[in-house]
Amino acid sequence: MRVLGIVAKTHDSGLALLKDGVPEFVLEEERYNRLKKTNKFPKNSVRAAFSELGLGIADVDAITTPWDIGRLRRTFLSILGGRLPMSLSFLLPSSHSAQQNQIVLLNRYLERGLREHLGARTLPPIVNVGHHDSHAAMFFASPFDEALALVMDGYGDDSSSSAYLGRGNILQRQWSTGVMNSAGLVYTFVTEHLGFAGFGDEGKVMALAAFGEDTYVKRFRDVIKPTPDGGYAVNMDYFSYDAFGELRPFKRKFLDTFGPVRLPDEPLTDRHHDLAFALQAVTEEIVVGVVRALLKKFPVRDLCMTGGVALNCVANAKILEQTDVRRIWVPPCASDTGAPLGSALWHYHQTLGHPRGFEMTHPFYGQAYSDDRIREALAKAGLQYRRIPEAQMLRRVAQDLADGKIVGWFQGRFEMGPRALGNRSILADPRRAEMRDHLNAQVKKREGFRPFAPAVLLERASEFFEIDQPDPFMTLAPRVRQDKQGVIAAAVHVDGTGRIQTVERSANPRYYGLIEEFGRITGVPVLLNTSFNRKEPIVASPEHAISCYLASGMDVLVLGDFYTTDKGPSCAMRDVEQVRAASAREAALTEGATAPP
Ligand SMILES: [Fe+2]
Repeated sequence: MRVLGIVAKTHDSGLALLKDGVPEFVLEEERYNRLKKTNKFPKNSVRAAFSELGLGIADVDAITTPWDIGRLRRTFLSILGGRLPMSLSFLLPSSHSAQQNQIVLLNRYLERGLREHLGARTLPPIVNVGHHDSHAAMFFASPFDEALALVMDGYGDDSSSSAYLGRGNILQRQWSTGVMNSAGLVYTFVTEHLGFAGFGDEGKVMALAAFGEDTYVKRFRDVIKPTPDGGYAVNMDYFSYDAFGELRPFKRKFLDTFGPVRLPDEPLTDRHHDLAFALQAVTEEIVVGVVRALLKKFPVRDLCMTGGVALNCVANAKILEQTDVRRIWVPPCASDTGAPLGSALWHYHQTLGHPRGFEMTHPFYGQAYSDDRIREALAKAGLQYRRIPEAQMLRRVAQDLADGKIVGWFQGRFEMGPRALGNRSILADPRRAEMRDHLNAQVKKREGFRPFAPAVLLERASEFFEIDQPDPFMTLAPRVRQDKQGVIAAAVHVDGTGRIQTVERSANPRYYGLIEEFGRITGVPVLLNTSFNRKEPIVASPEHAISCYLASGMDVLVLGDFYTTDKGPSCAMRDVEQVRAASAREAALTEGATAPP
C-alpha cells in the first residue's frame, strides 16, 4: 500500500511517499525552487519522486495532508470572532505570513495541482490528518515501542502544544493547549523583536542566548508561567498577536519591560543578548516543567519530541539533564518539513491499523544524482576534476581537512529536514579555533556568533561529550567534556556545549569512513559540519553545489566519486581568453579560413 502525504499553502511545502509503512521519498520543495520555507505547490518534488520511481497516481492508494481543514476553519473563525473588530486583521495575509488564507481550501488546491502535474483525471480522496496528530505520528518511526510523544510548535489546527501516549501502533492524545497559548509563537515573536526572521531564525536566537546574562529572566517568568495542571499559560498582558497576528504582536507592557524592537542592521547589544538568554531560559523551564508533569502522570520514560520547538537542541539537552527521561528521540524532520510524512504514517498505522515495522535510522530520503549528471555539471562549469576510488578518496579528503582545507561534501541522496547530516555538508577541521570565524565570515557569510556542529563517531561520542545516547540527527546540545574543549575548539559554543551529531557506520558508511580516517590522521574522530549553502536552501543538485562552491571560500569540492580543487578560470583570465578567441577568429576569417567554433 502506498500513501502520498503532501502539503502547500503553508511554510515547508513538500511531500512524502510511504510504501507499506516505509518512506520512499521525503522532499521539501524549497530544495528545488530555491525559496526558503516555500509555500508553493510542490510540483518539482512531485515530478522528482514519481519519475524516479516510475509511478503514476494510480499507484497511490491514499493521499493525506497534515492539516485538518474543517478543524482549522473552525479555529480560524473563533480567532476572527475572538477580539472583534481588531481580530478582523487576520483577514490580511500579512498578519500571518507563514500561512496563506487559501489553506482553508487546501484539499481543492492540492487536487488541482496533482491533476495538473501528474496528468491524472481521478485521484484517491484526500484524507485530512490533524496537524499535531501528524507531528506525533513520527513516534511510529521512532525506536520506542512505548513513549510519550510531545508536540510543541507555533500553532496547529487546534493547539500549539499536545502530548500523546504512544504504544505500538496507537497514539492517544492526553493533553493540549489552545492555539494562541503558544510557547512556540512567543519564541517566534521575540525572535522577530530581536531583529531576526520569525518562522525561520529561531535557531539564531538560541545560539545568541549563550552570550547573555540573567538580567531579564525573572521578568520573563511573568511572560510565560507554569500552570497547576502541568501545562503553561502565556500572559497576554504582554501580547496582542491574538488580535493582530504578526502586524502587532506586542503590547506596550512588553516593550516597556524589554525595550524596543531591534532593526535587522542594528548592532547587537547586551540588552539583546540578555533578552535572548531570558527567552531561552524560560522556554527551557516551561518545556522541562511540561515533561516532568507528564512523567508524573504516565509510567513511561522515553520521549519522542516533535514540532518546531523540538529543534531547540539546548532545551532538549536540558530535558535529559533535568528530568527522569531515559532516552529522547527527535526525528530529523521534527518541524513542518516532516508533517507530510507524519500524516501518511498516522493514516497507515493509526487509522488503518497496520503494525509497525520501520525505524528511522537515517535522514537520506531525498533525491540522488547520477555520475553522468555530476560529470555534465562539472564540464558545464569548466572545472577540471578527477575520479577517485572510495578508499583513496577518503584518505585524500581526510588529509585535506587535517591540512586546514574546507571541503564541500556532496554524496548520494540529500537529507530531509532542516539539517545537513553528511550528504550535503561543508566540512572542516574542528581543532583549529580560528576555523569558526573563517567559516562564518568567508564561506557561509553569516553572523559571527553562530556555532558549528561537531560530527563524531558514535563509539567515541562520550569521550568528547557528556552524552550517553545516540544523537544521529543533531537534536541535542550536550556539554563538551572539560578536557576536550581545547581539542575541538572550533566546535565548542560559548556556553561550553556542542550541537552534536553521532555518526553510525550503518547509517552512512562513507561519511563514517571519512571521520574515521580523519581520526586516524589526527587522533580526533570529529569533524566540523555545517549545511552546504549560504543564505539559501541547502543545495540539492550538483549544479547548486558547484555554484555555491565557486561563490564561497571552500577549497575542495567532492561530488560522489569526483574530486576537484579547480575554481575555473578567474574572471580576468576568462576575459583574456575571450579576447584571444575573438582575435583568433578574426585572424582566421581574414585568412579566409573557417572560424573556430
Ligand atoms: Fe507544526
